[in-house]
Amino acid sequence: MGKNLIVAQSGGPSAAINATLAGVIAAAQEAGAVDRVYGGLHGIEGIQAGKIVDLTGFADFARLRATPAMALGSCRCKLPPVTERDAEIYRRLREIFAHFDIGYFLYIGGNDSMDTVDKLSSLFAGEADAPVVVGVPKTIDNDLPMTDHTPGYGSAARYLAVTMDEIIQDTAIYNVPAVTIVEVMGRNAGWLTLAAGMPRFTGGTKPDIIALPEVPFDENEFLRQVREKLRHTPNVVAAVSEGLRDGNGAYVGSSAKSGAVDVFGHTYLSGVGKYLEGLVKREIGCKVRSIELNLMQRCSAHLAAGVDLEEGFALGRAGVEAALRGETGRMIAVERISDSPYAMRLRTVAVSEVANQEQLVPEKWRDLDDPEAVRGIRNYILPLMQGDVPQFRNEFGMNTYVSFLNWKYAE
Ligand code: F6P
Repeated sequence: MGKNLIVAQSGGPSAAINATLAGVIAAAQEAGAVDRVYGGLHGIEGIQAGKIVDLTGFADFARLRATPAMALGSCRCKLPPVTERDAEIYRRLREIFAHFDIGYFLYIGGNDSMDTVDKLSSLFAGEADAPVVVGVPKTIDNDLPMTDHTPGYGSAARYLAVTMDEIIQDTAIYNVPAVTIVEVMGRNAGWLTLAAGMPRFTGGTKPDIIALPEVPFDENEFLRQVREKLRHTPNVVAAVSEGLRDGNGAYVGSSAKSGAVDVFGHTYLSGVGKYLEGLVKREIGCKVRSIELNLMQRCSAHLAAGVDLEEGFALGRAGVEAALRGETGRMIAVERISDSPYAMRLRTVAVSEVANQEQLVPEKWRDLDDPEAVRGIRNYILPLMQGDVPQFRNEFGMNTYVSFLNWKYAE
């Protein structure tokens, strides 16, 4: 009899994170060294509270792969420093892991979740019979270092590129001056904003303005650009990051935000589009509308990219293989071999080099009038957005999904 494996998800969701979960469950079921496969509900927070389900006999893989959001639920939880070895949460986790005879713990998440992987692997280091702790990356933000990209980004990029294209079609119909401002997620990194620029980077002229969070935002310069564009086109379309900051590092429109932060100290964003809408209305006075793509960009499974889901699944499998090799404190990473034809391989990297770090859009890709930058961005993003995904519909034509959240807890 082998040891048991537990998997959980954490941080913000994506259209590909359940594909990674499917990869983990499938590989664990096939592995002779793994006895039972458990799922922790609501990440590490739920695990320490004993919210654990038994996934050993799960078989609905195709539908799980095509399910958006997180079938195991999520949390945003920051563990105490490892020096506080006797902290209550560490005591609970040891107890739970011992009770369920856990030999392997896989955590699917972004930079904050990799902090959990880092801390738990350090906590257990050197202990006899300690669980192997491995990280599997995900985030639509695509802001993890040490990996070419993260599962979830390709699908969100496809959604943004396609949706921007549709918005551009819609805004072209009237011949009256109008400004449309589309707000895109991504906190400090502009990878998603670049994806919203794909209609322009693939031969079109819009979005007319693309504002990355890496570039200090100047409201007067924005107004100048809008006025200038309006002289040549009746319809100005702008793609702006939710995380725009001014030259002093303050979030644009921050006076209108709640100021609330999560446990990692991240400000709850959203609202910059509305703020800029007010600015244009006041200063220019033409028709203006803001669109906040909000959750749709991370849960729109109907536009998920086949490549993204394939890779998500492969990373999940690779996570189990790394765990079985005993690679504790490591994260699975993608290494790109070529853009066209697209090829990549997987490897493991030290999770300590990923935890709490952010990979921003590189300097060389921030000048979007530079044809070299545009070529590089296009070649980087395009392969990740390819391929359709089968949809699982019921007799009403509605999609059906998998969730483990209401499963009975294992004892
Ligand atoms: O972590 C990805 C992300 O979608 C960010 O782009 C966004 O700022 C954040 O999560 C929102 O998180 P929440 O849904 O917890 O408010």
